[in-house]
Amino acid sequence: MTGSPKPAKPSVRALAAEILFDVHRRVGVFAHDRVHAASVAEKLNKRDRRFLTELVFGVLRHELTLDCVLAAHSDTKWDDVGPRNKEALRLGAYQLLYLDGVPPYAAIHETVQVVRDARARPFVNGVLRAVDRKVNRVPIDEDRGGASARKRLQIGDKKVCFFPEPVFADPETDLALHLAQVYSHPPELVARWVARHGEAATREILAKNHQPPQLFVRVNRLKTTREQLLEALRSEGITCGDGNLDSSVLVEAPPTDLVGSKAFRDGLCTVQDETAMQVAPRLQVSAGQLILDLCAAPGGKTTHLAELTKDNATILAVDREDERLDKLRESIARLGLKSIACMVADATAADAVKAVTPAPYDRVLVDAPCSNSGVLARRPEAKFRFDVAHLTELAALQKRILAQAYDRVFPGGLLAYSTCSLEPEENEEQVRELLAAHADLELVEEKLTLPAQGAGDGGYFAILKRKAAKIRE
Ligand SMILES: C[S@@+](CC[C@H](N)C(=O)[O-])C[C@H]1O[C@@H](n2cnc3c(N)ncnc32)[C@H](O)[C@@H]1O
Repeated sequence: MTGSPKPAKPSVRALAAEILFDVHRRVGVFAHDRVHAASVAEKLNKRDRRFLTELVFGVLRHELTLDCVLAAHSDTKWDDVGPRNKEALRLGAYQLLYLDGVPPYAAIHETVQVVRDARARPFVNGVLRAVDRKVNRVPIDEDRGGASARKRLQIGDKKVCFFPEPVFADPETDLALHLAQVYSHPPELVARWVARHGEAATREILAKNHQPPQLFVRVNRLKTTREQLLEALRSEGITCGDGNLDSSVLVEAPPTDLVGSKAFRDGLCTVQDETAMQVAPRLQVSAGQLILDLCAAPGGKTTHLAELTKDNATILAVDREDERLDKLRESIARLGLKSIACMVADATAADAVKAVTPAPYDRVLVDAPCSNSGVLARRPEAKFRFDVAHLTELAALQKRILAQAYDRVFPGGLLAYSTCSLEPEENEEQVRELLAAHADLELVEEKLTLPAQGAGDGGYFAILKRKAAKIRE
């Protein structure tokens, strides 16, 4: 007897198209999670997993640029192209323009196969063939200069594409739109950065966001030293070196290799970017203190606070999302920490927190939900989720959480506020408003980090002190 035939295994390109379609359609879907889940479900080998990651993140990173190129080579108006066909076209164009290892024939033929609607295949095929035929791709040292910025696209530091017709906005008339298209960022966001930081700094942020992010881990000093960690990771075949901070290590291996390593499973380190690593030490924590972390999950900073206090403080880690707190619970177990208690609660209404611990805290941390505009290299899907209306909503939420945080700080204690945003509404303006509302607060330190070559993510932190009440003689 013959059973029904096994459904064919989806190709890596088909998986990529499906993930991109979902990430665009549903707000809570993150590319990282989906790539990981698909790799596990389809039992992808290392090579296919890398190709899937490259395709999904490559398309997300260069999406607006790809759309401009595709729109210029399509007879159908780009807005009228269906969402699934758009994903297939972006995948095909990404391979043609950015991936040297994929022959154009395979990039087109294999990508056309992922189009579900057979009637749409000739259209997708035709547009990709036009891109392949008309776009002149040459090594950068063959660029003789003189091409219009509207017809030229530099790919990394080795290759340039020239287009027969203008593809991008004219930088002379609209610099922000031109940069947004060439570096694939939301035009609104780029216009804000150009106005605030100038063209050169904006180009630097944009270029940094184009590069795959670096992977840093924080040494768990309760269990090991940096030297021992480097040795342990290297003994498992993981290439790594000193980071820029005393407690950081730069890992030059895929994240999946790191989290599968014995050193990681034994709790010798935690994945955390170097900009994020700078916040907890600024809170000057010590053993015996009461510490409140109001937006704690997945707990990179909470576990850092526990390690800095030698696991001898009392830390309450609050987050609205129980599922995200599960990640913190896993880290607590992996790192072997005992001083952290987790609690699901809304930080804008801290009555629940007050009911559990009525006493104020020596230290309070608010690592607020934000637009993520400082970490777009790591979270490219946040690019097309950015809009000013959402920014206003986030700023209102941050203000409410900060008001509760202030209320929970013991006089004489410290409050840290941090985000991975570059936007003043989410950073300096929040802090200025809080300072204006409370005369007993003073600013100890604040720092905005812009994404830059050789540095970590972008982000902001401020340390505020609640002055101790004066005792009358
Ligand atoms: C930037 S993340 C925190 C990252 C974390 N501090 C770390 O270092 O790993 C912001 C967190 O705030 C949480 N959050 C958002 N709104 C909240 C609210 N109203 N009350 C409590 N937590 C909230 C989100 O669930 C998210 O986990």
